Amino acid sequence: MTTLGITINGRAYGPMEVRDELTMNDFLREMLGMTGTKFGCGAAQCLSCAVIVDDRNGTSYTSPTCVVSAASFDGKAIRTVEGHARNGELSALQKAFIEHFAFQCGYCTAGFLNEGQVLLERLAKQPVTRAELEKTVAEALDSHLCRCTGYVKYHEAVRDVILADAPRYLAANK
Ligand code: FES
Ligand code: FES
Repeated sequence: MTTLGITINGRAYGPMEVRDELTMNDFLREMLGMTGTKFGCGAAQCLSCAVIVDDRNGTSYTSPTCVVSAASFDGKAIRTVEGHARNGELSALQKAFIEHFAFQCGYCTAGFLNEGQVLLERLAKQPVTRAELEKTVAEALDSHLCRCTGYVKYHEAVRDVILADAPRYLAANK
């Protein structure tokens, strides 16, 4: 057994004892009932299980949860799909996913949403030029698999959120 204390979507959980072999995916889904985080391949290949990890240095990144122990998240702050809406209002990215009909079965959506959000936050700090945008979005989403092949629509949804607030996300006059 190992001690786990973690912050999820701004709320503290634990410290509590968890089995060493408990995965983060099972911790979220089975112990906390947070089923928005999906379990797909179970082999760190599809990223449908990805959550956002907020590093203490102010940067964020996504991590799979299917093959990663819950205990390894001790002391960390993460965000899941359940944390994107504010006061019942969907985030800009969530709205764009709906407007673009980006998903079909929705199994991969939480992973794409988290990855897209990390990209938005990165661009707000480190804008890219308009010319670099398509490549930047493609590279950010590249590791996520969608069995319903919604890749183009996810790409367009993320890109359009960025273009809708270009002064925030894109380098000026480029
Ligand atoms: S379920 Fe974790 S990467 Fe596929
Ligand atoms: S919408 Fe079905 S796997 Fe992506």
